[in-house]
Amino acid sequence: MTSLRTISNVYAGMPTTDGAGVKLTRMVGTPELDQVDPFLMLDRMDTDDPDAYIAGFPDHPHRGFETVSIMLEGQMRHWDSVGNEGVLKPGDVQWMTAGRGIIHSEIPEMLEGRLRGFQLWVNLPAEYKMVAPKYQDIPAAQIPVVELDGGSVRVIRGTYEDVTGPAESLMPVRVLDANLDAGAGWSISPEEGRNLFFCIHEGSVTCDGQEISAPSIITFDGDGDVEVKATDDGASILFCEGTALNEPIARYGPFVMNTHSEIRQAVDDFNNGTLAT
Ligand code: FE2
Repeated sequence: MTSLRTISNVYAGMPTTDGAGVKLTRMVGTPELDQVDPFLMLDRMDTDDPDAYIAGFPDHPHRGFETVSIMLEGQMRHWDSVGNEGVLKPGDVQWMTAGRGIIHSEIPEMLEGRLRGFQLWVNLPAEYKMVAPKYQDIPAAQIPVVELDGGSVRVIRGTYEDVTGPAESLMPVRVLDANLDAGAGWSISPEEGRNLFFCIHEGSVTCDGQEISAPSIITFDGDGDVEVKATDDGASILFCEGTALNEPIARYGPFVMNTHSEIRQAVDDFNNGTLAT
């Protein structure tokens, strides 16, 4: 019989403001949960108030990691210094490898009264921090869906039930977007030795004898499978799994490097206009 992982911790996230006044909940990357190596940050947007996000994230740089934007409701207009421009629609995903440097803007726009989505930061190892930037726009229609008994799983990155998602990353991570109907169960077998978390972002689940409501991050102890069951409210879960880098992290705003001198270099390169050239 396969063993089951037990809950290590449940985190409620921290309300915060980023960009030009966008209100969001930081689920990973907080004082309580600094990272789930290699995942540096997970921000959750969920609002029906245009004033909470209307100025968006005007031009800003990144270096040293990958940013993943997942739109669920509403849309995101974006531009970057590599020449990409467009609108992320509901269900679309943008997977961007900032590498040595990119400057971009991200401006959320509400559709039908609600804006909902995520930004996930995936760290890169030292050997990849200064690679050429890469950008991938993945329309919802290109994201395969595995049907469950009482739900479905969108495979964004990695493989689930022999279905492989379209996102390309320098990191062998797995990112799944699961939606469970009321009372439906879901069991997943993480790859051995990997770090993982669940972000419960709609409804609630029971797991390891606890009831956990959105928004929450669940981290686990031990090996084996993870089992959850949606309550009568149903549940939506973002599942992220990856191999820890175990490298030193020097973090300053939109730059994530290994050392402070590399951070100083990133700031200098941005200030003198060479970060994204
Ligand atoms: Fe950004």
